[in-house]
Amino acid sequence: MKIVNEIIELRQQVTEWRKQGLKIAFVPTMGNLHAGHIALITEAHRHADKVVASIFVNPMQFGANEDIDNYPRTLDNDQQQLVIANTDLLFIPSAQMIYPKGLDKQTYVDVPNVSVGYCGESRPGHFRGVATVVCKLFNLVQPDIACFGLKDYQQVQVIKTMVEDLSMAIDIIAVDTVREKSGLAMSSRNGYLTPEQLAIAPALAKNIQWLAQQIKSDHDFSGLIKQATHLINNAGMKTDYIDICHARTLQPANKDDKELVILAAAHCGKARLIDNLQVFLK
Ligand code: PAJ
Repeated sequence: MKIVNEIIELRQQVTEWRKQGLKIAFVPTMGNLHAGHIALITEAHRHADKVVASIFVNPMQFGANEDIDNYPRTLDNDQQQLVIANTDLLFIPSAQMIYPKGLDKQTYVDVPNVSVGYCGESRPGHFRGVATVVCKLFNLVQPDIACFGLKDYQQVQVIKTMVEDLSMAIDIIAVDTVREKSGLAMSSRNGYLTPEQLAIAPALAKNIQWLAQQIKSDHDFSGLIKQATHLINNAGMKTDYIDICHARTLQPANKDDKELVILAAAHCGKARLIDNLQVFLK
């Protein structure tokens, strides 16, 4: 695996691969990798000749009250996992390289509608930061395809919308959420959980699943959401949001919508966990 810190070196390698007619896949990450990230690399190999990963803890997507300095950094372990997964190139830029003018004087990408509610509401500016850095990374790597995890369902919709609205010639591939045996979605944030909280946290996925079963026969969505909120809070978490939405627009679902997604976020100790489940009604 080639490790690249400089933009010019990245561009040279990508240009070389393009000259050879090779197809390039891209997997952006913030590091602290686990099996969920590696599933994206594996999927990327299925669609391309070369797989590029990036590790960049993006300051633009962290709020003022979110501690970017404490974001887990595990570079040696990340590199080992990426080598085992046959990653061809790992790009690790500095913040200075990505944002030479600083965050305030930088052109940004705002994606309307899909980035407004849910995590967009709880984390103001978060999706602007995500869309802006992904746009920049796309321009640097110039991939044919890019893989994103459905674990961050709203993020996938934001990226797909950006690509469509800005006419980017990149196929976005959404990869299923990788889970612990307990059903808990794998996440860097799980590292903040105590053993006691680790026993509580799977209740988020369990209650989303419960809700998914219920909406197949009961169309009183708001009543069901109240019950699910109650169940999650009773398990020892504090619900941030839980809603049944249209799977693409992320607007609250209407009774006759068939393609749905349940989006949820809950605080468990110091960690704010998110999870979701798509539901297709007949
Ligand atoms: P990060 O949280 O490191 O996640 C990188 C990618 O891994 C994202 O596409 C995310 O959805 C995916 N991922 C995380 N956990 C997963 C799981 N359990 N199963 C499947 N995929 C999973 O998301 C980001 O970084 C950033 O916002 C980024 C897109 C890199 C922009 O800075």
